[in-house]
Amino acid sequence: MQELKHWRIEREPGGLAWLHFDKAGESTNTLSAQAMLELSQALDEFEREPPKGLVILSAKSAGFIAGADIEEFTKIESAEGARALVQRGWDLYNRLAAVTYPTLALIRGHCMGGGTELALACRYRVAVDEPGTRIALPEVMLGIVPGWGGMLRLPQVIGPAAALDMMLTGRAIDAKRAKRLGFADECVPPRVMMNAARMLALSGQAPRALPFLQRLMNGPLKGFVAAQAKKQVATRARPEHYPAPYAILDMWARYGGNALAVPTDKPTSMDAISRSPTTKNLVRVYYLQERLKGFGKDSDFAPKHLHVIGAGVMGGDIAAWAALRGLTVTLQDQSIERIAPAIQRAASAFKKKLRDDTQVRFALDRLIPDPSGQGARQADVVIEAIFENLEAKQKLFADIEAIVKPDAVLASNTSSLKLEDIAAGLKNPSRLIGIHFFNPVAKMPLVEVVEGRDSDPQALKRGMAFVRKIDKLALPVKSAPGFLVNAVLAPYMQEAMRCVDEGIAPEAVDEAALAFGMPLGPIELADTVGLDIAVAAGKQLADAGAEPPKKLLELVNAGHLGRKTGRGFYTYNQGKPQKAAVGQVPAGLAERLIKPFLAAAQRCVEQGVVADAELADAGVIFGTGFAPFRGGPMNYLKERNEQP
Ligand code: NAI
Repeated sequence: MQELKHWRIEREPGGLAWLHFDKAGESTNTLSAQAMLELSQALDEFEREPPKGLVILSAKSAGFIAGADIEEFTKIESAEGARALVQRGWDLYNRLAAVTYPTLALIRGHCMGGGTELALACRYRVAVDEPGTRIALPEVMLGIVPGWGGMLRLPQVIGPAAALDMMLTGRAIDAKRAKRLGFADECVPPRVMMNAARMLALSGQAPRALPFLQRLMNGPLKGFVAAQAKKQVATRARPEHYPAPYAILDMWARYGGNALAVPTDKPTSMDAISRSPTTKNLVRVYYLQERLKGFGKDSDFAPKHLHVIGAGVMGGDIAAWAALRGLTVTLQDQSIERIAPAIQRAASAFKKKLRDDTQVRFALDRLIPDPSGQGARQADVVIEAIFENLEAKQKLFADIEAIVKPDAVLASNTSSLKLEDIAAGLKNPSRLIGIHFFNPVAKMPLVEVVEGRDSDPQALKRGMAFVRKIDKLALPVKSAPGFLVNAVLAPYMQEAMRCVDEGIAPEAVDEAALAFGMPLGPIELADTVGLDIAVAAGKQLADAGAEPPKKLLELVNAGHLGRKTGRGFYTYNQGKPQKAAVGQVPAGLAERLIKPFLAAAQRCVEQGVVADAELADAGVIFGTGFAPFRGGPMNYLKERNEQP
């Protein structure tokens, strides 16, 4: 047989064969055309001389398989190219699923997309129980569908409810959950994984059968299940913006999970999906995210202890998040009474997130109330999140500087004060950087890392490494009013509120923004942020001389501050805005709303708040949720200008 570059076959005397995936010249395994061709050559070889069992595993420490080769995939320009790509994997995995000898995927570390589909085409799956093991079909996040058999086999293996949840959200499961759902036949610790794989592959055991009800749902009841799921999807994604989840449902329910079986003139066909600009833009978002993940990577800073000062809305949640991510956190405020609510909030967040009492206890043990602030002495990173008051912050940093380790990162979470002014309280002002989180901390993926006039580049690198360490995306920004994210949001929200002043219903304003693809309407966003904060942000960030919106001031003067007081532009019932039916949305409203947003993004690039247009797009998408399928504000401007 031909020499394989990316795979290695190892046959045992007893008849078991091991097929190691070891992509040449790369640290992770991706399924390029060549790697797939070689897999089929390996299957040729096993056809000639069938093993008693075949275990497919990875030779990379990084993980099992990261999925298809995205570079290759982005080069595809025609619908025919997209079809050929789908056909290649569909056929190959059907072949793998049909072999007569037992097959097993040994999954350790990441197992994504085409990797998960390969595992599904095997008779058995063993998942290795360690933190890095994550199994997902994330295609939908790139605007595509799991066309290599995922839509056929995942529902057969774990039942349609769980399978649709994974395929429509792209969410990953860990090894334990994989076992619970029935994706993995076994979940084992690393030291016994080879033995477990060997024994199961040779066991002769019948593959696990789906319970009766699940079989019904994956058979005669498909239409009903799909209709329910479609309603769910509709609350999150509009078909004109995100065709892929709708295509997945249709392909599963009506075409046996075969993407190629959908007639080309249907809106859920491969052709329609590959023509949609959404796919290209979502792939762009993927690359933007990879770029943000790269910040801080070149630093060997490995922070273990975070000290947070100010246990309010932000400080409390920053502390909880970092403790959840494995850091030891000391949390300081003026008294223990002020720290207690933050710890309580953390306890319920940990319970929801971790679901395991021991893990919850460990996380809570890492979060230490520290009213006297002694923790600052040992901390690797100190984040200040006290009231927005310059003198208080200056004094605090002067005190802190005297006791911290010489190489500890000193950071402020300030939204509106000048970093340079706060740094004036320090003996060595170059130590101060900004680490600016967004509210709610647990949900927002972005953190702006702010470079002040005097900030030391090393401190910035360390700040970004810290952000990476707690699994957030760091965006380097220059010190400027509103940095990037608030600088683009503020004028957009002001414009929205001005529309309300002119008599347009808040519901219509919000609907226009939603139809454009924003995750939340600007009026509801203002209510959520708090109208008092909206007034303050407006003063700082709106165009010079612009009058604040009238209705906004009226509401604030009457004590209606938005969601937190139960009333703002909307009235809230159990945290939900009571919206009237949307009437006619005035023509051109979305463009009017988005114009100041785009202008501000452009200004931030011109003024060097971010280093380039790509980073503006990345920051705005991950910091505001700006319509990901449009690829970011700068990308949107560019595409609009290119239109004939
Ligand atoms: P908050 O009012 O909820 O909490 C501030 C806390 O700091 C209070 O618990 C207070 O007791 C404590 N504090 C005040 N002076 C102190 C001192 N000298 N020593 C120890 N503790 C002290 O405020 P919030 O909203 O959490 O804001 C904190 C910082 O975060 C501000 O700089 C704000 O600009 C920034 N920020 C706020 C966001 C938000 O949405 N609320 C978003 C991003 C940044």
